[in-house]
Amino acid sequence: MNHVRNRGRTQVKTEKRKRTRPISYVAKSPKETVDIARLFLDKLLDNAKKSSDALVVGLSGDLGAGKTTFVQTVAKHLGIKSKISSPTFVIIKKHKIKNKITSKKYKFMFHLDAYRLKNEKELLALGWEEIIENPEHIVFVEWPKNVKKAMPKTARFIRISHAKKENERVLYLQ
Ligand SMILES: Nc1ncnc2c1ncn2[C@@H]1O[C@H](COP(=O)(O)OP(=O)(O)OP(=O)(O)O)[C@@H](O)[C@H]1O
Ligand SMILES: [Mg+2]
Repeated sequence: MNHVRNRGRTQVKTEKRKRTRPISYVAKSPKETVDIARLFLDKLLDNAKKSSDALVVGLSGDLGAGKTTFVQTVAKHLGIKSKISSPTFVIIKKHKIKNKITSKKYKFMFHLDAYRLKNEKELLALGWEEIIENPEHIVFVEWPKNVKKAMPKTARFIRISHAKKENERVLYLQ
């Protein structure tokens, strides 16, 4: 793994909630993206230890950036047995978390692909409020900008960008 940049910008504390510093890493191959995804998962779980809501994570990046690859890695570490594919047509998929060591608190992972949604209305019809209120849920949202208003204030954001070389990506955790 190539630990290239940590922008380390100190954020102005405008809320009571403790803010975490944004971090970024460069992955030179899909394997390095997998390693970074694991690292980000550990950080997300650690930061959310005391939260009483679902852990909601927006994943943005162009087509083919590696968003689904990221969710597949997370699923593997949570002991999820079902196949993780891009849920473009189903919109949202629910998976049972089996690994109680990695995740003591969380029982289900949801994977939402908002690519085809124009706004948050369709989401609300899918029981979104109940999903994000439940502290036993981890929710990954691809294309969060399409459902901006439905993302809770406590949501975390990950961005994956293509870099100069074909298999290079930059992963940001905010
Ligand atoms: N460093 C890298 N990290 C992740 N994927 C990479 C990397 N280099 C090449 N790839 C390739 O890029 C593709 C990423 O596909 P993936 O389905 O994860 O993207 P996505 O962001 O979910 O796309 P979509 O918006 O179409 O759903 C895979 O084919 C993978 O092999
Ligand atoms: Mg995808």
